[in-house]
Amino acid sequence: MPPKCSTWNIPWGRDRVPVLTSASMGRVIAIANQKGGVGKTTTAISLAAALAIAERPTLLLDVDPQASSTKGLALRPGPGGEMYGVLTGEAQIEEILLPTELECLTVAPASRDLVGVEVELVAEKGREFPLSQAVARVRDRFDFILMSRQVVADIRAFFKEKVYRTIVPRNVRLGEAPSFGKPIMLYDIRSRGAESYLNLAREVIRHHEKTSARQRTEQPHP
Ligand SMILES: Nc1ncnc2c1ncn2[C@@H]1O[C@H](COP(=O)(O)OP(=O)(O)O)[C@@H](O)[C@H]1O
Ligand SMILES: [Mg+2]
Repeated sequence: MPPKCSTWNIPWGRDRVPVLTSASMGRVIAIANQKGGVGKTTTAISLAAALAIAERPTLLLDVDPQASSTKGLALRPGPGGEMYGVLTGEAQIEEILLPTELECLTVAPASRDLVGVEVELVAEKGREFPLSQAVARVRDRFDFILMSRQVVADIRAFFKEKVYRTIVPRNVRLGEAPSFGKPIMLYDIRSRGAESYLNLAREVIRHHEKTSARQRTEQPHP
């Protein structure tokens, strides 16, 4: 079977990043919680990697002021820039995308510069936020766009929330993986942590495919 993630050249180098070959629009998954240290970044990295292993073109978008998703995969922004430039209008998101060890996983990297930059996703009073504009530009290239973010309470009301059933247990290997710059599946595929996130990816894909199929039936093309 040919790989599902074909590649395209990024503007500033010889590296290649995956491009979507599916017909569906990327589902945006924000891993949000008001608290820190609850596993948001771990979930963003691990779920993104698990979706990529399942050959779903996936974008991990780092909007964390600590750049934890970028650092957890041992990446650094390239000459095209990073999310700071995208959110301040100095760069386009296509220019900053980085390939990873996993063919279907692309990262929009960050550095610490994001402190104090507008990272809201939800448009308010007719105003489009830079983040939602950036997502819109690349949405048709990916099946899933993941980001981990700490949110203020009332933002949650804007998101359609879905609680997945998969439970990720405490797992030492999950805690170790970021310092090796690897997603858990490439660090220790046999760990309980890897198994849990692969199960979560399966659940996310099943849900996504079910709802996409339903949307196709409900909104037939004229
Ligand atoms: N299931 C888990 N088992 C063990 N350690 C974990 C697990 N999930 C996350 N960690 C570790 O807990 C710490 C906080 O997780 P992190 O994903 O950075 O949280 P957040 O992004 O919500 O602040 C990190 O050191 C991470 O490696
Ligand atoms: Mg975090």
